[in-house]
Amino acid sequence: MTSTSSREVVLGVTGSIAAYKACEIASLLVKRGVRVTPVLTESAQELVGAASFEGITGNPAITGMFAPDTNREIEHIAVATRADLFLVAPATANILAKAAHGIADDWLSTTLLATRAPILFAPAMNTNMYGHPAVQGNIGALRGRGCHFIGPDSGVLACKTVGVGRMAEPAVVVHAAMGLLTSRTQDLAGKSVLITSGANHEPIDPVRFIGNRSSGKMGHAIALEALERGARVVVVTGPAEVDPPAGCEIVRVQTAIEMCDAVLERAPQADIVIGAAAVADYRAGNPLSQKRKRDGEGLTLALVENPDIIARVGAAKTNGQIVVGFAAETHDLLQNAAAKLRKKNLDLIVANEVNTPESGFGTETVKAAFLDSSGRIDEQPLLAKRALAAALFDRILAIGK
Ligand code: PMT
Repeated sequence: MTSTSSREVVLGVTGSIAAYKACEIASLLVKRGVRVTPVLTESAQELVGAASFEGITGNPAITGMFAPDTNREIEHIAVATRADLFLVAPATANILAKAAHGIADDWLSTTLLATRAPILFAPAMNTNMYGHPAVQGNIGALRGRGCHFIGPDSGVLACKTVGVGRMAEPAVVVHAAMGLLTSRTQDLAGKSVLITSGANHEPIDPVRFIGNRSSGKMGHAIALEALERGARVVVVTGPAEVDPPAGCEIVRVQTAIEMCDAVLERAPQADIVIGAAAVADYRAGNPLSQKRKRDGEGLTLALVENPDIIARVGAAKTNGQIVVGFAAETHDLLQNAAAKLRKKNLDLIVANEVNTPESGFGTETVKAAFLDSSGRIDEQPLLAKRALAAALFDRILAIGK
């Protein structure tokens, strides 16, 4: 991992009620040896004092285009040039709109246009605002330009509503920032990466299906990391809560059989295949063509096995191709993962716990270990899924060296 002692993060704080949490973000970054330059927008200053950030970071907070004491313009170009990362946390709908549309009417929005450093947004706003097409359009545009996002989470919001819009927890935001600060060069340039992601919907009748809780966050974090490191990325995704990143080829499927067909068609051309999807092991043997009416008799389903996609890829591995699986386990993590690694003829498996609040389906973070066919085990700390994706590609690139 690259040292972060000489790294500088510009921490942009905007006018969300979550602004107070930016103090904890600043503190966690400083503890990791990162130099933090705090920037508060006018509305943020209504919610949290600049002095708090100056005390935590040891650096003057930027609160306007001109320095209050000398009235000299604050060199936003110099800061934009030397920053290693811009972290906007919390990020309001307003700053996202300004950044997406190139509006530069304050120090932060101006400097976001001037920097070439990676930009990470931690959105925080009311659920309805977050779901508004204008906000989602701005996020899509920013993602398409390579900006990064962490969260938001679901939960109780300051406006007392419950839903998506709560800023990701400070520790998770900092994980994501550290992943970007220590990000690698374009060490996947020229490589083709095929990823399965999300869930499956196995029809029972035209209305009902058997599904699972995969949100797609893990698979799409892997896709984003691969893109950032120069790979050509194809994502075969089942239904998911989050969309794959702009810039990759997206193949959308519903069932495990559709996913299998899409993967087997593309696997021979891939240098690396990663099975992050929660593939349905079973499907209804006789899905009904019409919605089944309740008849007071209950419903018994005869389920039949679906193909094991990653095992088929593992069995047909071309020379030099690397095939990686995930093991979703609730107990005996390493033993169960090692068994799957062997059975599916994988080069590496990510053994991840899926039965804790901070690791598994739909979480922002994951607790995992990498196992390879030589028996080597690399335990990972609790990481944001994007940071785990970064560590996974480091491990993949070390195979055979
Ligand atoms: O999407 P998120 O909400 O972020 O959640 C991430 C995740 C928990 C889904 C992910 O980290 C994960 O563990 N994915 C694998 C889930 C799974 O199906 O695990 P498994 O142990 O049942 O399968 C082992 C491997 O075989 C996996 O690589 C799986 O993709 C693959 N498989 C399984 C069954 C099948 N029929 N075909 C497959 O290819």
